[in-house]
Amino acid sequence: MCGIVGYIGKRNNAADIVVNGLKRLEYRGYDSAGVAAIQDGGMHVLKRAGKVNDTEELLRSTPLTSGLAIGHTRWATHGNPTDLNAHPHSDNLNEIALVHNGIVENYQVIKAKLLKEGYTLRSETDTEVLTVFIRSLYDKLGGDLVEATRLALTEVRGAFGIALISTLEPDKIIVARRGSPLLVGIGDGEFIVASDAAAVIQHTRQVIFLEDNEMAIVSHTGYKTKTIDNRTINSRIHQIEYDLESIEKGGYDHFMLKEIYEQPSTFRDAFRGRLLEDEGRVRLGGLSRVAEKLRNAPRIIFTACGTSFHAALVGEYMIEQLARIPVEVEYASEFRYRNPVLREDDVIFAISQSGETADTLAAIREAKLKGASALGIVNVVGSTIARETEAGVFIHAGPEIGVASTKAFTSQLCVLSLLALYLGRMRDLSRKEGIEIVKAIQKIPDQIESILAQAETIREIAQLYKDSPNFIYLGRGYNYPVALEGALKLKEISYIHAEGYPAAEMKHGPLALIDEHMPVVFIATQDELYEKVLSNIEVVRARRGRVIAIANEDDDRITELADHVITIPNTLPHLTPVLSVLPLQLLAYYIAVLRDCNVDMPRNLAKSVTVE
Ligand code: F6R
Repeated sequence: MCGIVGYIGKRNNAADIVVNGLKRLEYRGYDSAGVAAIQDGGMHVLKRAGKVNDTEELLRSTPLTSGLAIGHTRWATHGNPTDLNAHPHSDNLNEIALVHNGIVENYQVIKAKLLKEGYTLRSETDTEVLTVFIRSLYDKLGGDLVEATRLALTEVRGAFGIALISTLEPDKIIVARRGSPLLVGIGDGEFIVASDAAAVIQHTRQVIFLEDNEMAIVSHTGYKTKTIDNRTINSRIHQIEYDLESIEKGGYDHFMLKEIYEQPSTFRDAFRGRLLEDEGRVRLGGLSRVAEKLRNAPRIIFTACGTSFHAALVGEYMIEQLARIPVEVEYASEFRYRNPVLREDDVIFAISQSGETADTLAAIREAKLKGASALGIVNVVGSTIARETEAGVFIHAGPEIGVASTKAFTSQLCVLSLLALYLGRMRDLSRKEGIEIVKAIQKIPDQIESILAQAETIREIAQLYKDSPNFIYLGRGYNYPVALEGALKLKEISYIHAEGYPAAEMKHGPLALIDEHMPVVFIATQDELYEKVLSNIEVVRARRGRVIAIANEDDDRITELADHVITIPNTLPHLTPVLSVLPLQLLAYYIAVLRDCNVDMPRNLAKSVTVE
């Protein structure tokens, strides 16, 4: 949510480097963008509402020669997405420029103080207040930008990731974080600061991650890190594993489509090296230090948001079925505030693609405070949740750039199926059953390929229904969370209202919505609830609803009932969601494209929700 990039170093096109970095972060926010650079001792700020391309145009008409710049792509929190509210913000004398991710919760109090002291504010943003606040402390101290920044941050409540530069001390970028990710890339004679590694890897793979309440002072020749309460620290250098190719579109029209098509390989990457076929079990190295805790856990809690929450719901069914351990699934935003009952031997898993979602992070901090063990199922290595959990399993899906999560979901399901098998084999699940599951998992990548090969059929269905104002998605058992996920995909990228329900719940209310204009997507695979789902389809047909069914390949009965059938191969019931979600991802994608929606940057949304 919002992207920050900064450059200091030997090259003199710092502003261009920053704008290029912002393009890689645009999926984090695209309401406005801007860049500030110091050229010939003066501060130059170019910014405007709109996409990074618009700022790039500004830069083309006003080129900047500079070895020091910061930039921002914004997802608006305080103030409308206007030119004035765009970042960077500067102080009254245009000598300090600052970019900020997060929310300064007490900005009204600080603002009142500043106005009393005679400072003026032009925008509606909390960020400008913070910039002017730092300026006011700088004036009071009679110099010392680092100390002024540090003191300001000790008074700020809320979340922030910031980067600032100043003509007063034009030899440094100051960055700091609390609750919003920031890293420093260490190049050859140059440093690139960013809120996300995607902006850095073009230049270097060596990074340090700032922890909460830490700041870094980055100069042309090196960097120093310390805590906001002024203790010097030594930050470890990490190596970023993924390459540039993985954050580019690679010939696809959209990142979302590329990521949908990556799923055969990302699913394989999630189980690679983890299956022990002959023993019918899995090896999860990241959990070995908590194996005993997991063996004795009386209860498992999953906490997550959005798509990751839907994966958690599937995980609940998997673990309860295979390992017979009670599982609870909690929205992180609810869990963190409702004083949940936790016991010391409870194990809580945070599921998060980004590893930075503010609510999920707060939920595990709350759980840890209450003595529970917090573990992670995370995609981004080095992310805050990955660092703050005691142990965990990476899903290894690679960078996910499309705002609508696709490959991360199926990789989360893969890891959850491994976890269920791991826990099951610690309990009653037999070796024979384990072998059967391992074999089924190994077949999934090819099965995914066969579903993706039906893309054209799905596009034709999308064409027929693209103008429907509403959709209903229905499924039972393992396919109920898939119905939720299908509806979420459609609404977030095509702006069509869609609801997901457990199919049998339909008669308790939603049935009233059915008429000949209502498309109803049934996930009707041949599991133990199949007959019941067929009855649910009959009920919808009797009200003239239009039925789109996701069914198994050898299912002849469904073709008589449904208006359209998209088939998926057979697998074990608990692995079905991995396959049944794919047509729904493609359906949402094609409908959005046909409606001319910006698939990778849906309105009002951004990847990685680092604010509450
Ligand atoms: C939907 C989507 C979001 C995320 C949610 C959690 O397509 O991407 O609902 O799933 O914001 O994000 P992570 O998994 O990064 O914690």
